[in-house]
Amino acid sequence: MADPKIIVALDFADAKAALELAQKLDPAQCRVKVGKELFTAAGPALVEALASRGFGVFLDLKFHDIPNTVAAACRAAARLGVWMLNVHASGGRAMLTAARDAIAAGPDAPRLIAVTLLTSMAQSDLDDLGIAGTPDDVVLRLAALTHACGLDGVVCSAREAAAVRAQSGDEFALVTPGIRPADAAADDQQRVATPAGAIRSGATYLVIGRPITRAPDPLAALAGINAEVAAALRTG
Ligand code: C5P
Repeated sequence: MADPKIIVALDFADAKAALELAQKLDPAQCRVKVGKELFTAAGPALVEALASRGFGVFLDLKFHDIPNTVAAACRAAARLGVWMLNVHASGGRAMLTAARDAIAAGPDAPRLIAVTLLTSMAQSDLDDLGIAGTPDDVVLRLAALTHACGLDGVVCSAREAAAVRAQSGDEFALVTPGIRPADAAADDQQRVATPAGAIRSGATYLVIGRPITRAPDPLAALAGINAEVAAALRTG
């Protein structure tokens, strides 16, 4: 597969568990996501181990700090050989631009995306923070800023994907969590989309954790999801 659409969330507490699961997957069929828990526990060595097994690694550390610090962190992540990394769009224009400038252009350079509004944030949180507009308004505003700063895409829910796609065009990568195959448990996700539904809404990459990592046969679960995604991409 030239550009696997599924990013498997390796939400594990240590390197051993993450590598055991990675062992059951095929780097030609998926990418993997390393987030704050696993990275804090297992560090750069795990990222390098996954990359050396051929996996594209999405380093999901959501950097958010002063521009100089974020730029340095992005450079350090790029040196690890990650495929994708992210920052918080709410860090603002100078921070986003510094992050963009820190990552060299080129085919092997990591994709740089931004988190718009965490999906855990509700209207009452925006009101507490004095942020104007509805959650949907904020997502679109921060996605537009991210696009204007030259980043490669955003993380957003499938619910928001169509509006962001319409605003930011076909080249902008939309990375969408909260995905559940029709026959899978929702777990703690509130608003879920099926893999095909997310693709039809304009998602570029789907972040999927437990439906794959907790499946009796993770590779078979991944294959089923890839087949659904391929069919949705064919039929549009
Ligand atoms: O197991 P599950 O498929 O729910 O995992 C989804 C992954 O996507 C987790 O790593 C979770 O932290 C992440 N995520 C999410 N919702 C967001 C942003 C990230 O579920 N809004």
